[in-house]
Amino acid sequence: MRIDIITCLPKLLESFFAHSILQRAQQGGYVDVVVHDLRDYTADKHRRVDDYPFGGGAGMVMQIQPIATCIRALQAERTYDEIIYMTPDGERLNQKTTNSLSLRQNLIILCGHYKGVDERVRELFITKEISIGDYVLSGGELAACVLSDAIIRLLPGVLNDETSALTDSFQDNLLAPPVYTRPAEFEGLRVPDILLSGHEAKIDEWRYEQALTRTRTRRPDLLEE
Ligand code: 6GU
Repeated sequence: MRIDIITCLPKLLESFFAHSILQRAQQGGYVDVVVHDLRDYTADKHRRVDDYPFGGGAGMVMQIQPIATCIRALQAERTYDEIIYMTPDGERLNQKTTNSLSLRQNLIILCGHYKGVDERVRELFITKEISIGDYVLSGGELAACVLSDAIIRLLPGVLNDETSALTDSFQDNLLAPPVYTRPAEFEGLRVPDILLSGHEAKIDEWRYEQALTRTRTRRPDLLEE
């Protein structure tokens, strides 16, 4: 898989992708993340990528020219399955969307900033608009990191234990059951006996019951879906 991220703050993204699972995923050849600095694509001699909004009002708007030049340069190299714009007014991200995006080959992610992008960018290029929740961030960069992380960890081979993504919270619309490790007793708090029993079928059943109870009490909306 290849993910091209377009941003006016490339440094913010590069540090994120230079660490942990995301770094290993790239070194292992499972994903290629390429960050593009929008300023490299502007025709403006002062390298500006934003301007005042027509009609007035607060905040700056990202101009269409650098974004169009960048996206077209990428499209000349390969076909993209989705061109995603990170924006608080997009569809709210969930595991279903993440799963489906993890099956794609080439993605572009555009990070919004200031008061957002010129509306014509959305009309002309964007195939999907994603928000990561009902709150406003100062830019789409953190949201792009969240989306990329959620996608990349699903790629086969990226996680050490291949089954571990399958037992995540939200797969099957259930929250994950509680987990424990040694010691079996800490300050009088004991690990549930069933987990020490070695009885695999009973343990699976217990975990399923726990997942159901946890979902029912914390996120009943997931069960209604
Ligand atoms: Cl994708 N962008 C911004 N700026 N704020 C957000 C968001 C995205 N998702 C939730 N809040």
